[in-house]
Amino acid sequence: MKIIGTGCSHPSKVVTNDMLSDLVDTSNEWIMTRTGISERRVISSEMMLDLAVEAARNALDDAGISASELDFIIVANVVNEYVTPALSCILQGAIGATCPCVDLNGACVGFIYGLDMAEAYYKAGKVKKVLVVCAEQPSRMLSWQDRSVCVLFGDGAGAAVLAEGDNIKATRLTASSNYDKLYQMHELQPSPFNTKPSTDLPLVMRGQDVFKFASKASYADLSALLKETGKTADDVSLFLLHQANIRIIENIAHIFNQDKAKFPTNIQKYGNTSSASLPILLDELNREGKLHHGDLLALSAFGAGLVSGACLLEW
Ligand code: ACO
Repeated sequence: MKIIGTGCSHPSKVVTNDMLSDLVDTSNEWIMTRTGISERRVISSEMMLDLAVEAARNALDDAGISASELDFIIVANVVNEYVTPALSCILQGAIGATCPCVDLNGACVGFIYGLDMAEAYYKAGKVKKVLVVCAEQPSRMLSWQDRSVCVLFGDGAGAAVLAEGDNIKATRLTASSNYDKLYQMHELQPSPFNTKPSTDLPLVMRGQDVFKFASKASYADLSALLKETGKTADDVSLFLLHQANIRIIENIAHIFNQDKAKFPTNIQKYGNTSSASLPILLDELNREGKLHHGDLLALSAFGAGLVSGACLLEW
């Protein structure tokens, strides 16, 4: 397939590092040097659906197609206000589409899982136009008293429209069940028959373990795709990495011996927006005119599972 349109949407509330230092024992200096994050957007009066719909509409406008032309909608999301129906199903009606739709929980790798699924459906001859939306609100998963996680995340949505083409050159997905490294459990409705007490825990993250996994996985995924396609890191025009920590991004640039300028970032403004991170970055670059026809883009993400994924695509 080929990406023919991108879009994104951010909550209006800006939370700066200084605002966080009023909530927990932290500082702008600590957050900036350890993560590269200066501020993030956090959902206040909006709902997850509002952001998802706005990102989807922006992507459809950019693609120049109407929602009725879509054959499939994939929404990557970890939590939203509805347990059921799927967010994709609510979004489908809101944007005026009529095609089948499905949600996926690929943690921070949701966008790459979405691209891979879209490509597989296309190759199976089932679809020609697919909308992939990533909509996330980690701000409602974590404890705002836990300084080790609340400074890292932000909310947002990003989207892409895919159509017929030969621009996705290769994708790679991995999963290994190390769920104690990064997880959140939530309370379920009580049942008179349930013998296990319900658990409601905010997001738990073993930061250093995740940091090590992220660097290794991103390097392994990107190296495998370059090998598979007969390319080298020098052939890549831009590396779009999951915006989780500036040090992980700089580390990967260093390992591949590439100029940091080839690794665009927006983590400074948005923090880690989980699966929305890559499509938001892609949309910014697209709208700023920084993507050129024929550019080779290397996308890479990692997250809870632990899972990782990468995609080589030609713009
Ligand atoms: N402000 C001030 N001090 C803090 C803060 C904070 N916000 N958070 C932790 N500290 C303290 C710790 O308590 C510790 O203090 P101590 O030495 O007295 O015990 C000290 O800072 C160092 O803590 P570390 O955890 O060792 O700090 P580190 O340099 O590893 O940075 C971080 C922590 C930023 C979380 C890093 O490990 C990281 O980025 N990990 C990867 C996280 C990630 O990528 N997650 C997302 C991937 S998956 C997804 O996107 C959902």
